[in-house]
Amino acid sequence: MVSSLYIHIPFCATKCYYCAFNTYPFHKEQAKVYIGALQTEMTLYAPETWTLQTIFIGGGTPSLLSADSLNQLFTNMHRHFQISPDAEFTVECNPGTVDSEKLRVMRDAGVNRLSFGLQAMQDETLRRLGRIHTFEEFLHSYRLAREHGFDNINIDLIFALPQQTMGEWQHTLNETISLEPEHISAYNLVMEESTPFYDWWQSGELVLPSDDIEADMFEWTIETLTSHGYTHYEICNYAKPNREVKHNLVYWNNQEYIGLGVGACGNVDGIRWTNIKGPTPYIEALRQHKKPIADSELMTGHAEKAETLMLALRKREGICLADYAQRFGEELDVSFGETIEKWIGLGVLEQTGTHLYLTQRGLFLANEVFVELI
Ligand SMILES: C[S@@+](CC[C@H](N)C(=O)[O-])C[C@H]1O[C@@H](n2cnc3c(N)ncnc32)[C@H](O)[C@@H]1O
Ligand code: SF4
Repeated sequence: MVSSLYIHIPFCATKCYYCAFNTYPFHKEQAKVYIGALQTEMTLYAPETWTLQTIFIGGGTPSLLSADSLNQLFTNMHRHFQISPDAEFTVECNPGTVDSEKLRVMRDAGVNRLSFGLQAMQDETLRRLGRIHTFEEFLHSYRLAREHGFDNINIDLIFALPQQTMGEWQHTLNETISLEPEHISAYNLVMEESTPFYDWWQSGELVLPSDDIEADMFEWTIETLTSHGYTHYEICNYAKPNREVKHNLVYWNNQEYIGLGVGACGNVDGIRWTNIKGPTPYIEALRQHKKPIADSELMTGHAEKAETLMLALRKREGICLADYAQRFGEELDVSFGETIEKWIGLGVLEQTGTHLYLTQRGLFLANEVFVELI
């Protein structure tokens, strides 16, 4: 039974220098047409009688949409889908792009969780990342959201940035903690091909902190956040009690969801699909009332088992052995015994009677384990 919906809003004011997400420059008129296309896409899925328990509107920058466009998007969603009264309903926001009117529209539509990308608190660093806001502007947006009654807020941060010292990262994280958000996502910078950062790094213009400093930053992050009452429940995610993001848990538990919008992914009945990436062909497909799917794949057998294990290992609690056996009718060590034994021997994985999980040391080597599982 599908109970999760993701909607992608692919527009940003400018492109941050490190970002490889599927985003395009914001044009008000195109955004309006896009909201119309999303409505058509909703009609292609809506005949199913799903009741949504989690909704995530991500980007891009959904908060760039005008209050009218946001209102239209939410009205369409309520018209086409059943939304559970206690659904978790998140909207991703960029600091500096929310105002009272937009926040009111969100509240009225049932949005009850916001996610702000802060990344760093030093204005000079924000400028070097290509961000459009200052720390002061972030504070203004964050406080405005609190004033409008949002009591479940996430703040995204990135560490191991070019030239970033341990002291600067500590300053960013400590300031963030002092704001008492319910959830913090702390990502280490990933150098993505096809970004300006990648090119500057290749040409030697950008110098990254060493692997040792990055590992120290990660360890310090875990210690600091857990000592301030945040549970480290996924490699990059920390939550106050009962504030883990339910929507992402659907992904990490390899459960079903639908994705609408350009480049969005869905997973229903073992079929994974990805939508067309560009707004123009996406809008064109919907003009013809066709599902705008670019690729789809039936996930069965080893591929589905490996994906289920990899996704679950992202969670600190790891994979539940009984759930795995129930889902696949086979014990986990029958499927992956040799690989698991090897990594347990190396101190990267650990197993109790009920779960298999990455050790703290293993968190740094997660990708190496994942590559072997595929
Ligand atoms: C889908 S993005 C959108 C968030 C929102 N548009 C913003 O930037 O404020 C979600 C988060 O991914 C993280 N992110 C994006 N690119 C990254 C990269 N190359 N390395 C690490 N984290 C990244 C950032 O923390 C960002 O806030
Ligand atoms: S980090 Fe956020 S604001 Fe920056 S380009 Fe990526 S999606 Fe857009």
